[in-house]
Amino acid sequence: DRSIKIAPSILSADFANFGAEIRAIEAQGADWVHVDVMDGHFVPNLTFGPPGVKAFRPHVRTFMDVHLMISPVDQYIEAYADAGADMITAHIEAGPHIHRTLQAIKAQGIKAGVALNPGTPAEACAQVLDLCDMVLVMTVNPGFGGQKFIHSGIEKTRKIRQMIGDREIHIQIDGGVTPETAPLVVAAGADVLVAGSAVFKGGSVDTPEVYGANMRAI
Ligand code: DX5
Ligand code: ZN
Repeated sequence: DRSIKIAPSILSADFANFGAEIRAIEAQGADWVHVDVMDGHFVPNLTFGPPGVKAFRPHVRTFMDVHLMISPVDQYIEAYADAGADMITAHIEAGPHIHRTLQAIKAQGIKAGVALNPGTPAEACAQVLDLCDMVLVMTVNPGFGGQKFIHSGIEKTRKIRQMIGDREIHIQIDGGVTPETAPLVVAAGADVLVAGSAVFKGGSVDTPEVYGANMRAI
């Protein structure tokens, strides 16, 4: 299914109000909920771990997309699967054994994604595409919301869509997605758009219609 999906990143939500924020974005039409897990080691920022993800689970009615920006990864996969992730995406740069990591995610009976940092070429994921339900193309350096879109991700997306061919694999774009950049990556072959600041800006759980308008603008 190549329809365009919006996956708001709750990194830009009110951290004291995650349940209500998740319900608000879903009520306003979010297709997936994107959960950014950061460890203060693979990326220079910290968010939440398996207990946080488990607490979000009952509020998510759509699809919980868990983006792990952590290293090492493998020993935590079971915990994030048990916490209720529908998909776990791991970074190719997080360790020497992305193939094993993806096998371990699939062994949990959930969907698996591979993420590529802006400095990692498209070809880096060629040998693991058959283990993937999604390739995540980072269009900012991971760690923070609200950064500027890195345009080289557009050409990378085009290459990856070509490499995927007729396989059923999503391409997700994460970082700096706005009404201006979204059409560029969709034209290049992306079908899942993560957006943090562009969805949550100007709104709150008390004004969820702002989230809806922001999503429709993307
Ligand atoms: C960055 C995260 C993103 C981030 C995107 O490391 O992976 O999901 O929240 O935020 P925006 O949309 O504001 O660039
Ligand atoms: Zn993310």
